[in-house]
This record gives sequence, C-alpha cells and structure tokens, in this order.
Amino acid sequence: MALIVRVWFLLTGTRLVTASFPYCESGTTTAGGSTNTSEVPVEVNIQGQSGKFTIVPKGSSGNSVGIRVTMDALREVDASGTAVGQSGSVKHSLNTFASQSFTVGAVEQVSIGSVSAAKISFESTISSIGKLGVDTFLIADSGMVGMNNDSWDVNMGDLKWNIRLWDWTWCGDAGATCKNGEVGDAVELDITVQNMGGGSASKKDGDNKTVSLGGSAELELSTAVETDCTWVEMAAGYPMITTQGSGTTITFRFPRFANSSLYDPVISGSCAELGLECSSSTTGSNTQVNAAGEATGVALVAGLALTSLAMA
Ligand SMILES: *[C@@H]1O[C@H](CO)[C@@H](O)[C@H](O)[C@H]1NC(C)=O
Ligand SMILES: *[C@@H]1O[C@H](CO)[C@@H](O)[C@H](O)[C@H]1NC(C)=O
Ligand SMILES: *[C@@H]1O[C@H](CO)[C@@H](O)[C@H](O)[C@H]1NC(C)=O
Ligand SMILES: *[C@@H]1O[C@H](CO)[C@@H](O)[C@H](O)[C@H]1NC(C)=O
Repeated sequence: MALIVRVWFLLTGTRLVTASFPYCESGTTTAGGSTNTSEVPVEVNIQGQSGKFTIVPKGSSGNSVGIRVTMDALREVDASGTAVGQSGSVKHSLNTFASQSFTVGAVEQVSIGSVSAAKISFESTISSIGKLGVDTFLIADSGMVGMNNDSWDVNMGDLKWNIRLWDWTWCGDAGATCKNGEVGDAVELDITVQNMGGGSASKKDGDNKTVSLGGSAELELSTAVETDCTWVEMAAGYPMITTQGSGTTITFRFPRFANSSLYDPVISGSCAELGLECSSSTTGSNTQVNAAGEATGVALVAGLALTSLAMA
C-alpha cells in the first residue's frame, strides 16, 4: 500500500528561493526510518501561483469537496498595528497573493512527534523584503503532534501546516526604504480557510484555539509562535478571527524577529469531511510532546509517490 500525494502546480514563473529557512534545533520533524506503509486516500493540491492549497479526496478536483486554505494578504505593521512601508519603492505589504510566485518542494516522508506524515513545502519571496514558507504535513496515522508543550491529537487525513517567515528587512532597518520614523514591529498574515463541501467557519464559543470549519472539520490554533527559536505568545487577541459574510478570515501576528518566525496550526476532523473511514482507535495511547518538542516512538512511515501535473 502506498500513500499517494499528488502536487499540482504551475511550473512557469517559479523562481528559486535562495536563503533557506534557519530551522531551530528543537524542531519536531525528523526523517523516519520504518518501512511500514499506510494508505491515506487524500492529496494536497498546491495552486502554486496563488498562495492556495486544498486537501481533497484522491482524484477529486477539489472545487466541491475538501478543505482550502487561501493566503489573502500580508502586512508589516508598527507597534500600534498600523501598516508601514506602504509608500517606498519597496512595499512591505501584499494586498493579494494572486500573482505571487511560489516554489514547491519535493515530497518528503517525516515523523512529527509519534506520527508519520507526508510533507510538502512551498516558499515565496515577499516583495524584496523577506521570505514566506508554508509546510503542509498530511498525517498518515493517529497520535499527538505539536511544538513547544502545546500539542494536539491528530488522525489520518488531518493536515498540520507551518507558516514560516525569515530573511526579513524591517522598516527602520538600514537599507529599508520606508518613511522616516516608520519602524516595523510585527507581520500580520490574513488567511481564509474554507470547507469546500459546505458549512461555514465560526469560532467555537469560549475557545480561542478552535475554529469550526463546518461539518466535523476544525482548525486548531495556538497562541504561541516560535520567534528566533524561543516560543513567545502572539499579541493579545491574536490569532484574530473575523467573519465577513460567509467567509472567515484568520489574522496571525508574528512578532518582530531577527532570523526566523514559525507558527503551526492543525486542521483536524477533515477525515470525515473528506469521506474517509476515520480511525480513532489509538486515542489514549499517545505520548505527550515534551518541552523540547520531542516525543517517543515512531509508529510507521508512509510510502510516497509524487505525481506532478500542470493544472490549466
Ligand atoms: C504495519 O502497520 C499496521 C498498522 O499499525 C499493522 O497492522 C501491520 O501489521 C504493520 N505491518 C508490518 C509489516 O509491520
Ligand atoms: C507550557 O510551558 C510554559 C512554561 O513552562 C507554561 O507556562 C505553560 O502553561 C505551558 N503550556 C501548556 C499548554 O502546557
Ligand atoms: C541570528 O542568527 C545569527 C547567525 O546564526 C546568530 O548569530 C544570532 O544570534 C541570531 N539572532 C537571534 C536573535 O537569534
Ligand atoms: C479569548 O479571547 C478574548 C479576546 O481576545 C479574551 O478576552 C478571552 O479571555 C479569551 N478566552 C479564552 C478561553 O482564552
């Protein structure tokens, strides 16, 4: 049996991202060593030029089923939350990712805590001020994932993703072309998460960590962000969830960093939304992720195959 992940992306217009993300030593993903395989009948479609990705049942087009994440906008803001770097020759904001080029990496087999996953990353250069990367991890079995000491139960078909920022030139830095006096303090990223099969997103009452995506799918949010290899809390009120019409936008606020910033949400319950037979048999047998982000035991590692298709 094999876990098949198909990545759809446009080959034209992608450019190489040069400086790579400076991962911290306490990262939770490691290459797996087992040869056991598991079948996950789900694939991740990355729409390479738009900052969108969709998890869908294998072989489906993803427009009427699946969970779609869309990156909408990005802003560098000052300490009062006002966007900076709007007027210089080099913009420190993106009002849309529609024409943004992303480089899509190869599929890797990894272990996150005690679970195995297929990892696909895509990266983009923001204006010429910094880099943004997204790692998607399609979970191949059940267990506990997390970073720092914040962790979640996951099931086959769940999607964990990291958002990474690095190589940033902030307003106020030498060489930045912002207005006099503008100083960048944080980066805000707006994303929309949609359940394509219907149902609208909403915040769960009394729970700032969970956004219901309609049906059984939920987005699990943490308030911690790894800033220069130290876990810190996002500013009060973030991640901020705003609902406009049927769309729900989540705004993350990454505090100013020198080298790197990393955030790790999880989409769970997608199993049922994707029409899978959900297994929940392993609940209770999981290992709590410790403060260094390590967990014991590698359950199994999925076999992978990658098919690249150009999407019209
Ligand atoms: C692979 O893992 C499954 C599920 O954990 C188990 O039932 C099966 O026996 C394993 N196969 C091998 C060859 O280890
Ligand atoms: C994580 O660890 C910090 C410091 O050790 C502690 O203050 C916090 O309550 C812990 N959070 C969770 C979710 O256990
Ligand atoms: C940033 O990276 C450089 C080079 O690795 C290191 O010397 C410096 O301490 C880092 N800064 C922070 C704030 O982590
Ligand atoms: C949720 O967020 C609001 C405002 O951001 C805060 O007042 C409230 O205490 C938070 N609730 C929990 C359960 O953390």
